[in-house]
Amino acid sequence: MKLEINSASEMQKLGASLAHNAEPHDLLLLNGDLGAGKTTMTQGLGRALKIRRPVKSPTFTIVREYREGTMPLFHMDFYRLENDDLSSIDLNSYLAEPGLVVIEWPQLIMDDLPDEYLQLTIKRVDDSWNSTKRMIEFEAKGDRNQKWLKDTLAEFEK
Ligand SMILES: Nc1ncnc2c1ncn2[C@@H]1O[C@H](COP(=O)(O)OP(=O)(O)OP(=O)(O)O)[C@@H](O)[C@H]1O
Ligand SMILES: [Mg+2]
Repeated sequence: MKLEINSASEMQKLGASLAHNAEPHDLLLLNGDLGAGKTTMTQGLGRALKIRRPVKSPTFTIVREYREGTMPLFHMDFYRLENDDLSSIDLNSYLAEPGLVVIEWPQLIMDDLPDEYLQLTIKRVDDSWNSTKRMIEFEAKGDRNQKWLKDTLAEFEK
C-alpha cells in the first residue's frame, strides 16, 4: 500500500487521521531518512489528540510523554541510541499503558518490539532538496493494524 503526499500540511493531516482512528496500546513505527517528515507527522497526530503543547523532536531525550490529550502519547526517537540506553527506558511499560506509542528510527530496536504494529516508511521522491513531495509505504501487521490503516486512509481520502 502506497500513498503520495504533497506538502507538510498534508503530512500533518495524515497524522491527524491516524490519531482519530487510534486505540489504546497501538504502536506506530515511522521510518525514513533525516528530514523525511516523521516528526512533522507526529505533530499533526498530537494536535488531533488535543495536546496543546507542540510536539517536539525527542532526539535528545529518547522519549517525550504527553498525557494531557484525549489519549496519552509516547513519542520516541532512537536515532541517537547508545548501547546501554535501551535498558534505561522501559519500552514494555510504555507499551502496556493505554496510550499510543510512536517511534522514530525503530529499526535500531526492532528486536525489542512486539510483532504487531503499523509501520510507515516515508521517502522523498524528487531529487531537489526543497521538494515537499513524499511517498509513504505502509506495513500493517495483524488484524488490528490492518483495520487502523484502512480506517485512517478512508478518513484521509474523504
Ligand atoms: N510533505 C512533507 N511532509 C513532511 N515534512 C515536510 C514535507 N515537505 C516539507 N517538509 C519539511 O521537511 C521537514 C521535515 O522535518 P521532520 O523533523 O519532520 O523530519 P524527521 O523525519 O522527523 O527527521 P529526523 O530523522 O531528523 O527526526 C520539516 O521542516 C517540514 O516542514
Ligand atoms: Mg524527527
